[in-house]
Amino acid sequence: MNQDELKQAVGRKAAEYIEPLLNSRSIVGVGTGSTANCFIDALAKSAHTFDGAVASSEATAERLAGHGIAVYDLNNVDELLVYVDGADEVNPDLELIKGGGGALTREKIVASVAKKFVCIVDASKQVDVLGNYPLPVEVIPMARSSVARKLVALGGEPVYRQGVVTDNGNVILDVHGLSITDPCDMEDQINAITGVVTQGLFAKRPADVLLVGTSTGVEEITR
Ligand code: 5RP
Repeated sequence: MNQDELKQAVGRKAAEYIEPLLNSRSIVGVGTGSTANCFIDALAKSAHTFDGAVASSEATAERLAGHGIAVYDLNNVDELLVYVDGADEVNPDLELIKGGGGALTREKIVASVAKKFVCIVDASKQVDVLGNYPLPVEVIPMARSSVARKLVALGGEPVYRQGVVTDNGNVILDVHGLSITDPCDMEDQINAITGVVTQGLFAKRPADVLLVGTSTGVEEITR
């Protein structure tokens, strides 16, 4: 199976995985990216079994609505049963790097509200140590250079993601060259930089369940 087929397989599996958890009042949190899109397309088949979804990006909201799934503002939702999203890297503790698609801040907010975070990846995303994939950091535009200098002081090489403005009107620095052996500590250190909105490390709120698409089937790993 190629990478697209693995993403489709894991997207289908995630829809199957959450189906028994859903009832007519359930709201599902939905992530962003090509793997999340496969999940959305599979979820559409069970659209009648739950109330609606909260989207982690404008693109996801559009895709959900295209399938006739009601999209709710998070402010109007009391409880999110489950959040399903992809990742750029995942380590054995189910800590993640996310934000390759630039939706990290809303993804982090929706994940923080959800009772359960189901992460869906193909096997190429599994690593022992996070950081080979450049860590996305969402930054208030006027603080771009000052934040970049502080990221250099942490040992990273920040690269401005040219031409990208997030759904929140901010910019992204992709930080290369980090070997993130203590993800919670790195998350704290970057969050403490003035001008940072958020960063793509999901260590303090890791995934609860990982579904991995492999050539021999979808593997389930639980924390
Ligand atoms: C978007 C994300 C995505 O989940 C991550 O980039 C993985 O994307 P894909 O499923 O397309 O490989 O964090 O901000």
